[in-house]
Amino acid sequence: MNYEEMKEKLEKYNQTHVLAAYDRADDATKEKLLTQVERIDFEQLKELYHMTQTEIKFENNKIEPMPYVDSAKLNEEEKKKYIEIGENIIRSGKLAVVTMAGGQGTRLGHNGPKGTFDLGLESHKSLFEILTDYLKNACEKYHVTIPWYIMTSKDNNRDTVEFFESHNFFDYPKDGIRMFFKQGELPMLDENGKVIINEEGIIKEAADGHGGIFEAIFKDGALEDMKNRGIEWIFVGSVDNPLVKMADPLFIGYAAANNYMAASKTIVKAYPEEKVGVFCKKDGMPYVIEYTEISNEMAHQRDENGELSFGEAHMLLNLFNIQTLEKIKEVKLPYHSAHKKSNLVDEKGNVIIPEKPNAYKFETFIFDAFALIPDVGLLRGKREDDFAPVKNAEGNDSPVTARKLYEDYMKRNGMIC
Ligand code: UD1
Repeated sequence: MNYEEMKEKLEKYNQTHVLAAYDRADDATKEKLLTQVERIDFEQLKELYHMTQTEIKFENNKIEPMPYVDSAKLNEEEKKKYIEIGENIIRSGKLAVVTMAGGQGTRLGHNGPKGTFDLGLESHKSLFEILTDYLKNACEKYHVTIPWYIMTSKDNNRDTVEFFESHNFFDYPKDGIRMFFKQGELPMLDENGKVIINEEGIIKEAADGHGGIFEAIFKDGALEDMKNRGIEWIFVGSVDNPLVKMADPLFIGYAAANNYMAASKTIVKAYPEEKVGVFCKKDGMPYVIEYTEISNEMAHQRDENGELSFGEAHMLLNLFNIQTLEKIKEVKLPYHSAHKKSNLVDEKGNVIIPEKPNAYKFETFIFDAFALIPDVGLLRGKREDDFAPVKNAEGNDSPVTARKLYEDYMKRNGMIC
């Protein structure tokens, strides 16, 4: 794309402030801007901006609670059956694991990929090392190397790979970490729908949400690699929960025995305002309503037993049958917008550091894929066994609370942190 073509495209979409950045830039930055403007789908950005101005309402949808099975209420026979099925799947090498580590971790305030965060244990293990320990134990127990795929973003890919390399992949079995693949990015917009110019002088782009996983595992060859290895089930978990059980035979057996094409491990929401998504059925299909999108009324609604009607919390512990992934890769997931603080360079070249949210970031969510899968099984787990989120620098869901939950779990189970 040459300057004239760039100008024409920017004029068409009312984004000519980018030209001011271009005029100020050195040659290398000019080149980057040209490539960005050529690649960016401004028509899509126009629609996304329009979406930020529209309130999300569910009044035209039929919203109902979603059935689940409580693992604590399974009888011994059922439990034994599920565990046996799950163990067979793991032992025969049919399980792969994906860790979603493409997020920015802004709330935590850690400088670097979230997985490199030191949880503050006596051993000073990072979140990545804690996850590796868990998987190494599973590999030993089931005499198998569980293939592990790590989703990164363009921003943190190199740092993530270097972190693993410099720690000798935490001695995970050779060839076990199959690849560090990259999710996509989308430009951020200011409150007037203009693309943001960052301190480097180019258009600011941010990871486009973990829903990008479906396209990324396909594009980067991870899905092909799984198929070649005869994988049937793929567990996808987040990087920010040291209690994530990536090879949980009960959960896997529950999904396989009931012929679910996807399943999610849930817990009971602790209180109505807890920052977790909750499961429901939307027009008959499985759906997660995010904490940013749920109405106050829905969050507080209780059933006849006094329990929260929408209290089955989504923990980002999801399991997919490989056949489902093949289908989902064809579908475009909806975008959600988040109102965030973002430094930016204005038209005069001044760096603006905002005190309140001034920008929109657009993301697709992995769990929106559930709406495409009629048979998603929910298995309720236990908060103290499954969920120790590391989200905020202080207070709720912080390193202090997660460390305590993790240490207590390890102690209860006779393991060393
Ligand atoms: C998330 C879930 C929420 C759930 C809660 C449980 C979303 C949108 N919501 O909220 O339903 O109840 O966790 O803790 O996920 N990530 C990427 N790429 C991205 C964005 C995120 O890989 O582009 C990864 C992060 O690295 C992290 C995970 O996804 O591992 C969670 O992301 P985050 O944005 O922090 O989600 P929450 O708002 O905490």
